[in-house]
Amino acid sequence: MKTSSLPRLGDFRRVVFFTGAGLSAESGIPTYRGHGGIWKEYDYQEYACQRAFDRDANKVWDFHDKRRAAVRACSPNDGHRVIAEWQRRAPGTVVVTQNIDRLHQRAGAYDVIELHGSLWRVRCDREKVTRPDESIPMAPRKCACGAFLRPDIVWFEDALDPETVRRAQDALAKCDLLVTVGTSGVVYPAAELPRVAMQHGATTVEVNVEDTPVSRLYEHRARGQASEILRAMAAAT
Ligand code: APR
Repeated sequence: MKTSSLPRLGDFRRVVFFTGAGLSAESGIPTYRGHGGIWKEYDYQEYACQRAFDRDANKVWDFHDKRRAAVRACSPNDGHRVIAEWQRRAPGTVVVTQNIDRLHQRAGAYDVIELHGSLWRVRCDREKVTRPDESIPMAPRKCACGAFLRPDIVWFEDALDPETVRRAQDALAKCDLLVTVGTSGVVYPAAELPRVAMQHGATTVEVNVEDTPVSRLYEHRARGQASEILRAMAAAT
C-alpha cells in the first residue's frame, strides 16, 4: 500500500469520515454485496423492507436477532479506533455512517450521524416512539399498544430521516477533508452525500480494497485494508 501520496489527517482542520460496511469487515461483520455478503445469502425483500415486516414480522425479527448476535460477538477494529481517536484530538471531526452496528460508538466516537439507523434501537410506528434496545433475542416484540415494534433501521424503500440528512450535508459542506471508507457507493440517496464535500472544494479520499462505481469522483484512491490506511493517514502527522 503506497502511503506517500496519502493526505495526512493532521494537515486538515475539519475532517468528515463517511463510512460503510467495509470498515466493519475487519471486525468480522460481513459486508452486504462483497464476497459472503449478507444480501447474497438473504433476499432483502424477505428480511429488510416494510413489506416483508407487514407480511411476517417474526421472520424479520429472527433475521435481525441473528444480526444482533453476530455484531455483539464482534469488536471495533483499528479503523474504528483511529476515527474515534481523531475525533477526540480534533473536535471538528464528524462521523457520517451507513453502518447500523454501533462499532463507531463502541470505539469511542460521539455524535455519530447514523444515516441508516441502528440495529440497537426499536420503534413503534403507531405510538411514534423510538427507544434503545440491546436485547437478544429482541423482546418483547410487541409494543404496549399491541403493534409490533420494528428495528429503527432505514430499510430498502424507506426514506432517510430529513434531519439526519441535513446534519450530514451540513458537515460535508463545511469539511476540508472527506475520507470515504469501505462503501460500494451504490445505495442512494446516501451515496449522493459525498458530492456535497466535492462541490465545496474539500480534498477527497476513497479508502477501499477495490475500485467502486464512484472512484473516479475522488482525488485520492487509497487501496487496501481500511484500518491500515487510516492508521497511516493518522500517523503521517
Ligand atoms: N477495507 C476497505 N474496504 C473494504 C474492506 C476493507 N477491509 N472490505 C470490504 N471493503 C469494501 C468493498 O470493496 C465494498 O466496496 O467495502 C464495500 C462494502 O460495500 P457494501 O457491502 O455494498 O456496503 P455499503 O456500501 O456500506 O452498503 C450501503 O446498502 O445494504 C444497504 O443499508 C445497507 O448501509 C448499507 C448500504
